[in-house]
Amino acid sequence: MQFIRFSDLCASGQASGKRVFIRADLNVPQDDAGKITEDTRIRASIPCIEMALKAGAAVMVTSHLGRPTEGEFKPEDSLAPVAARMSELLGKPVKLLSNWVDGVAVNPGEVVLLENCRVNKGEKKNVPELARKMAALCDIFVHDAFGTAHRAEASTYGIAQYAKIASAGPLLAAEMDAIGKALANPKRPLVAIVAGSKVSTKLTILQALSAKVDGLIVGGGIANTFMLAAGLKIGKSLAEPDLLADAKAVIEAMKARGAAVPIPVDVVCAKTFAADAPATIKAATDVADDDLILDIGPKTAEILANQLKAAGTIVWNGPVGVFEFDAFAGGTKAIAHAIAESDAFSIAGGGDTLAAIAKYGIEKDVSYISTGGGAFLEVLEGKTLPAFEILAKRAVT
Ligand code: 3PG
Repeated sequence: MQFIRFSDLCASGQASGKRVFIRADLNVPQDDAGKITEDTRIRASIPCIEMALKAGAAVMVTSHLGRPTEGEFKPEDSLAPVAARMSELLGKPVKLLSNWVDGVAVNPGEVVLLENCRVNKGEKKNVPELARKMAALCDIFVHDAFGTAHRAEASTYGIAQYAKIASAGPLLAAEMDAIGKALANPKRPLVAIVAGSKVSTKLTILQALSAKVDGLIVGGGIANTFMLAAGLKIGKSLAEPDLLADAKAVIEAMKARGAAVPIPVDVVCAKTFAADAPATIKAATDVADDDLILDIGPKTAEILANQLKAAGTIVWNGPVGVFEFDAFAGGTKAIAHAIAESDAFSIAGGGDTLAAIAKYGIEKDVSYISTGGGAFLEVLEGKTLPAFEILAKRAVT
C-alpha cells in the first residue's frame, strides 16, 4: 500500500518551518489517582515528535484518552499526566493547550499537546466542519496512531481528507511494515496463536487466518470450544457450544489446505476458578464433569513449543491459559519462551499478550510488539483500516 511517509518529508526538508499536526495514540492506562501505569504508547510516540522537531517543524500533538462525552470535559479526561511524561521523555517542555480547535500558537522547535481530542463535539462521528478546522491548523498532518487506525474519526480520518499533506508517521509505518511482513508475504511455516475467552469475539480472525496460516494454535476458552468440536469432554469449562459448527468449519478449512488446528492432548484442571485452587494435569480425554480447564498441559505445551521453534513466522494474540494464576501459567510461559527462542519473525499484539510478554521478560526477543489492541485484531481479520485507506488515497491526490 502506497502512502506518504513523514520521514521522507522530513528528509527532503519539506517539514522545515512547517506546522505539523501529529495524531498519536496516547490512550494509556491510569490508576484511580490518574497515575500512568503503563507508558508504552507515550514512548512509542516520541520518535515521530523528535523527527518533526529535528526537521525544524512547529509541532502539535493530540490523542484521545478514554471515551469521554463530547462537549463535557472532566478532569479525568485530561492529557495532563501524558504531557508531563512526554516532557520527561523529550527532555523539553510540553505545554498542554485546551480549546485548541480554532487556533494554536506554536513556534518551530516547540511542541504543544492539544487536550483530549475526543472531547471536541463531532470527533467520533467525523463531522466535516470539525475535521476542516483541524486540517486548517497545519501544513502537514501525520497519522502516527496505530492503536486508533481502525477508527474513522475527525482527528484520524477527516483531518487526513482535508489537510494539505496527509502522511504516515514512523510508528504507523513500522506497524504496517511488520504486519505486512507477517501476513502478506510470510516466511513459512506461518503459525498463529489465537487465544482468549470467547470464540465469538475472535471468530472472524480465526476464519480469516484459517485461509492463510500453516498452524492455528487456539488457547483459553477458544480451545475449549475447539476441544468440544473435536468430540472431547470439557466439564464445566468456559466454552460456546452454539459456535461448534463454526469451530468445526475452521478445523475443516485448515485440513483442506493440509494445515492443522492442534487440539490439546493434555490440560491443567481445577474444581474452582481461583489462584489457590489445586491444579491437576489430565489427559484431554479424562476431563471430569466438574472440571474447569484453566491451561494447556505440559505435553501439549511441548508439542506447540516445538512447532513454534520450527516456524518461519509467528503471530501471537492471546495467552493460552489463566497465566495470572501461577498454577495455570505453564502453557503461556512455555509458548512465550518458545517464541523467544524461535528464529521466526514474530509479531504480538493485544493487552493480555503484552502483559504475558512483560511477565516472562521476552520483550527483546519478539521481533515486533504492536501498540494496537482493537486495531491489531482488525488487521488480523484481514480488514483495511480506515487510516491506511485514507492515507493511500491522499498519496495520489
Ligand atoms: C485502544 O486503546 O485500543 C485505542 O486507543 C482505541 O481506543 P477506542 O477503542 O476507545 O477507540
